[in-house]
Amino acid sequence: VLLASLKADTHRIHGRWSWPLLLSSLLTSRTYRALFTLRLCQSRWGALAAPLHRLTCASAGVDLPRRTEVGPGLAINHGWGLVVSAGSRIGKNVTLFHGVTLGRRDRIGRDGTRDIGYPTIEDEVCIGPHAVVLGAVTIGRGSRLAAGAVVTDSVPPRSVVQGNPAQIVKTDCQPDVMNPCG
Ligand SMILES: CC(C)(COP(=O)(O)OP(=O)(O)OC[C@H]1O[C@@H](n2cnc3c(N)ncnc32)[C@H](O)[C@@H]1OP(=O)(O)O)[C@@H](O)C(=O)NCCC(=O)NCCS
Repeated sequence: VLLASLKADTHRIHGRWSWPLLLSSLLTSRTYRALFTLRLCQSRWGALAAPLHRLTCASAGVDLPRRTEVGPGLAINHGWGLVVSAGSRIGKNVTLFHGVTLGRRDRIGRDGTRDIGYPTIEDEVCIGPHAVVLGAVTIGRGSRLAAGAVVTDSVPPRSVVQGNPAQIVKTDCQPDVMNPCG
């Protein structure tokens, strides 16, 4: 699973996979390093990798908790200010730009009870810079969230969503996935 995920993540950057490309991505891409250590954390070397993951995330300027469920082929573009809550789930071939928040939403009842929800991002979703997705919502496969969209409701597959509050402005769109992995 570790190698398959690393191959997919490398493929998203270069359009193909090889060990030299993995090494060059590790040397040159701070967001790839954060992704690499996340994959290590979720492998049998998890305990050893956790401190390293904190360092790579800090240097990339991202919060990407080590227990987050992330499918193969995640692309993090620029990355600065990316915040992913640990309960979020991210599918395959997803793209996240800088400043994206995948956030927990707490609904606090009149009696003080707290209902907590986290987003699910399905395969091939592309989330533009500074978009915010909150709570137990599902962003359907192949959808595109515009820069700055604030999304608090689920989005059907292949939708383009813009604005705050977010609105669906196109349906049946083409997914935006550079170098999808197989
Ligand atoms: C929203 C988006 C996904 C739609 O892409 P698209 O389907 O190709 O549509 P267009 O770019 O042609 O835009 C359609 C309309 O939405 C408007 N629009 C584009 N981005 C918008 C945004 N983030 N918020 C609100 N409106 C936006 C356009 O001005 C256009 O309006 P018009 O029809 O009145 O002229 C895309 O514009 C976007 O935000 N992508 C993120 C790209 C980005 O941020 N890149 C920077 C990376 S560093």
